[in-house]
Amino acid sequence: MPTGQTLLVTGASGHLGRRVLELLLETGETQVIATTRTPDKLADFAARGVSVRYASFDEPASLPSAFAGATRLLLISTDAVGAPGHRPQQHRTALEAAAAAQIKHVVYTSLTSPFDTPVTIAPDHAETETALEASSLGYTILRNNLYADGLPQTLAQARALGGKLFSAVGDGKIAYVTREDCARAAAAALAASFDGRRILDISGPEALSHTDLAVIGTAVSGEPIQYVPLTQEALSQQLTQAGIPEPFVQLIVSFDAAAAHGKLSSVSTAVEDLTGQPPMRIADFLAQQVRS
Ligand SMILES: NC(=O)c1ccc[n+]([C@@H]2O[C@H](COP(=O)([O-])OP(=O)(O)OC[C@H]3O[C@@H](n4cnc5c(N)ncnc54)[C@H](OP(=O)(O)O)[C@@H]3O)[C@@H](O)[C@H]2O)c1
Repeated sequence: MPTGQTLLVTGASGHLGRRVLELLLETGETQVIATTRTPDKLADFAARGVSVRYASFDEPASLPSAFAGATRLLLISTDAVGAPGHRPQQHRTALEAAAAAQIKHVVYTSLTSPFDTPVTIAPDHAETETALEASSLGYTILRNNLYADGLPQTLAQARALGGKLFSAVGDGKIAYVTREDCARAAAAALAASFDGRRILDISGPEALSHTDLAVIGTAVSGEPIQYVPLTQEALSQQLTQAGIPEPFVQLIVSFDAAAAHGKLSSVSTAVEDLTGQPPMRIADFLAQQVRS
């Protein structure tokens, strides 16, 4: 059933954005705005009635006309993780424009435990959450756990390394969630009638250790995979020797450190609460990836 609200998705040509648009149309929403730096990439949605508009958070002047008429807005965190301070500035620009456009409610894609984690990019999310708190806007903050969508590649690398799954997570667990479930949660939160302020952990149905992951990877691929714990220093050296650029080495190691300290293990019912359908189990997701 359409909500009768005008729902806006930013960064709409990305993976998450496109999927949210699709879900909104599937549920019959008729007043949907998509903003993007590349409107041509959304020509297919424009043809289906979505109002596609140019917007870049790096160009504040592009936002008033892009945001005009929306009642609720999904702010998809950008991928500008290169220069410190850039991304939170982009998000603040978007929030100021949303308030000026009299948008009632903002849904924001944050990260698990953004204020209390070694993850190098977490301050971007913490600053954006702080800006939301200080604003006049209603909000739903979706603290997305790590996407499960990177796991097929992680397990393929382990197989290429003789079945060794190297990591510095120790015994820490991660409540991986599929990007599809993040999209479902975001679409539902955007189309909801909730107009207060809330913070939700968006997780998969269970938290998995790397020992669990190795067992699942073995079952799904039929090839033995074993978890090999490393120190953060050893992992860092291994990644550097493999030619990974330094900021990404730091990012990967910082996620492992966060997991080792239990910062990514929180399991919630939010996906099911928002959508009426439980999030996908990681074993099922990986089996599906192998079949496709
Ligand atoms: N939880 C996780 O494991 C995880 C993993 C990866 C990413 N993320 C975060 O989740 C977000 C969405 O994920 P995704 O898979 O959809 O990533 P993605 O496909 O890389 O999308 C990145 C999005 O950032 C938007 N963007 C970049 N610069 C912008 C600007 N100047 N103004 C407005 N928007 C801008 C892009 O919008 P347009 O190109 O349409 O303008 C694009 O849609 C990412 O950007 C990142 O912050 C989380």
